Amino acid sequence: MSTSRKVVLATGASSGIGPASAELLAERGHHVVLGSRRTERLKEITEDIHAAGGSAEYHATGVTESELAESISDPEGRERMRTYRSVAIPASSVAAAIAFAMDQPAGVDVGEIIVRPTAGRT
Ligand SMILES: NC(=O)c1ccc[n+]([C@@H]2O[C@H](COP(=O)([O-])OP(=O)(O)OC[C@H]3O[C@@H](n4cnc5c(N)ncnc54)[C@H](OP(=O)(O)O)[C@@H]3O)[C@@H](O)[C@H]2O)c1
Repeated sequence: MSTSRKVVLATGASSGIGPASAELLAERGHHVVLGSRRTERLKEITEDIHAAGGSAEYHATGVTESELAESISDPEGRERMRTYRSVAIPASSVAAAIAFAMDQPAGVDVGEIIVRPTAGRT
C-alpha cells in the first residue's frame, strides 16, 4: 500500500492502460475515479475494484478523438501512425510506470513519463 493516498483520475478507463492503471493504483491504496464513454464497462471495473477492497467511482466522460494521424499528408506515413498507435506495450507495463510516478513522495513530482518498447515489432 502507498504511504500517501491520492485521488487519481483515470481517463480512458474502460479498456487497456486505463483499467490496468486504475486497478493497480487502487490496489496500492489510492482512490481512483474512472472515466470513459462505455459506462457499463466502468461499472464492472469499479465493482471489481470494490470487491478487491479498493476505493473507486466512475463517471461518463467524452473527449475529442486524436487527430494526430490526420495531420500527416503522406498516405503511407498516415497509415503507419495509425498502426503504430494501435500496437501495444502491455497495458500492465504502462500501468506499472504510472504507479511508480504516483508513488513518489509529496516533494517529488514526476511530470512526464516516456514509455517506449524495448524491442521492435514482428
Ligand atoms: N498501449 C500502448 O502501447 C500505447 C503506447 C503509446 C501510446 N498509447 C496511447 O495510449 C492511449 C490508450 O491506449 P490503450 O492501449 O489503453 O487503448 P484502448 O484500449 O483502445 O483504450 C482507449 C480508452 O480510451 C477511451 N476513449 C476512446 N475515445 C474516447 C473519447 N472520445 N472520449 C472518452 N474516452 C475515449 C476508451 O473508452 P470508451 O470507448 O469507453 O470511451 C478506452 O477506455 C491511446 O491513445 C494510445 O494511442 C498506447
